Amino acid sequence: MNARGENISLLYIEDEAIVRENMLEFLNRRFDKVWVAENGAEGLETYRKKAPDIVLTDIRMPVMGGLEMARAILEFDDKAIIIVTSAHNESNYLLEAIEMGVNNYLLKPLEWNKVDATLQRCIERVLKTRNARDLENLQTEEAFHYTITSLARAAEANDEDNGNHILRVGEYSAAICRSIGFPKQLVDTIVLQSQLHDVGKIHVAPEILKKPGKLTNEEMELVREHTVFGARIIGSHPRLETAKSIALHHHEHWDGTGYPYGLAMIEIPVVARIVAIADVYDALRNQRIYKTGFDHDTACSIILEGDGRTEPSHFDPFLLEAFKKIERELEAIYGRLATVK
Ligand SMILES: [Fe+2]
Ligand SMILES: [Fe+2]
Repeated sequence: MNARGENISLLYIEDEAIVRENMLEFLNRRFDKVWVAENGAEGLETYRKKAPDIVLTDIRMPVMGGLEMARAILEFDDKAIIIVTSAHNESNYLLEAIEMGVNNYLLKPLEWNKVDATLQRCIERVLKTRNARDLENLQTEEAFHYTITSLARAAEANDEDNGNHILRVGEYSAAICRSIGFPKQLVDTIVLQSQLHDVGKIHVAPEILKKPGKLTNEEMELVREHTVFGARIIGSHPRLETAKSIALHHHEHWDGTGYPYGLAMIEIPVVARIVAIADVYDALRNQRIYKTGFDHDTACSIILEGDGRTEPSHFDPFLLEAFKKIERELEAIYGRLATVK
């Protein structure tokens, strides 16, 4: 055999002890994991519990024969790779095996080079299936990322030209997360899913979002609802929990004065507390139809000292400390991803 069956498991079913011992010695040298059963019933149970990559089985055995077992396995796993071994005078069994979809067989007495070649073929099939599955998983993951980004972009079209606002908020949030030691996987999730923080604005009329003057109380109420709408749009998929938390709570304030629920302190999910700082920093920097943009130092002093509208008490004090340490990094992100007007 050219390649060892690394990370590949095999289930071997044989009732005769001597044949079993010999074969086991051979198999153990070639596979990482070998399970053994003495008849079809035991083999079937082991298959269900362990899901081996390859099954090698004798045909005539007490309790349950190899073909009966193979049929039961193929019924719930039609891609199972099964090799049957049979004697020359049992060719009728072989035909039956082929008919049910078992396409590997070995004639007894076994010749090691033929056993080797058949196992090798099966290993290659296992690896091919795994590669195809890996590729499929990768494509699904890419589609997941793509869909989130597209949805965020679609929602943004309703708002005033925000340009790269959603990307910048993701990058600032990542910088804050890294500075407080969040694991990379969580940082990656926040970068991606924070893009949906304002997705609920899709439900708010563009005339309100783009209104140059001051909003009326009713209009303000409608704008505030983008948090609840956002959470509703994102839904309850477990992989989008972070996005949902951020969309729903990124306007809550540490001191309880935010919306939609007036949550305070650690009642607010930490991911939303992080995005809240990032979002406010970007809103202060960015020029909007109803306001001019501030330079970096002014934006920082408004967040850290307040201006009557934004107050430091709105933010998690621990995260404000982190913000202070990395504010230059945020400035660089703004510079790199600034909106081209
Ligand atoms: Fe928002
Ligand atoms: Fe935002």
